Amino acid sequence: MPETSAPPEPILKKDMGRALISAERIAKRVEEMGREISEIYADIDTPLVLVVILKGATVFAADLLRSLSIPAELEFVSAASYGSGTAPGKLRLAHMVEGPLVGRHVLLIEDIIDSGRTVSAIEKRLRKLKPASLRLAALLDRPARREVETRIDFTGFVIPDRFVIGYGLDYAGLYRELPGIYTLT
Ligand code: IMP
Ligand code: MG
Repeated sequence: MPETSAPPEPILKKDMGRALISAERIAKRVEEMGREISEIYADIDTPLVLVVILKGATVFAADLLRSLSIPAELEFVSAASYGSGTAPGKLRLAHMVEGPLVGRHVLLIEDIIDSGRTVSAIEKRLRKLKPASLRLAALLDRPARREVETRIDFTGFVIPDRFVIGYGLDYAGLYRELPGIYTLT
């Protein structure tokens, strides 16, 4: 997220140009991901646990959940950076899952993998809860700025090195309501 001094001007849906990824393409891809995920987990004997990273991944998670044909539960985690004065990239979990994950099949849901630091920190914490398996589904993969090697098991779209908004992704808290994904220029 770039540094901001003044809050950005709201952009109205009618003023947005052509989407980098349209709502229609997202819907089609999320349906495909749901089918693929349902096949991979077809034989598990407990409901899949979707662990959604707040806040950006909530829109993707809501659609992905409804594209599954297997039972699934929902949990949420929230990562926040430590305040100034500590090493950059240090993350703490502001909210942790509520239910036990021991022996459960866990699918972590993220909006975009950038440096890879957020999911790497969250995965480390989740592994301590001894899940039977832990996989990662990300709507977007932006490999250009990767700092931590990250294995993404289910990827929606690989995107170029541009900051994006919409479909849950924000800039300074705004634009999550846009139905498609747009570059902020
Ligand atoms: P990472 O820890 O560097 O991989 O960053 C991932 C997190 O940064 C995501 O959960 C997003 O919240 C945020 N982020 C990274 N790139 C973008 C972007 O282009 N738009 C909106 N949020 C972003
Ligand atoms: Mg995020």
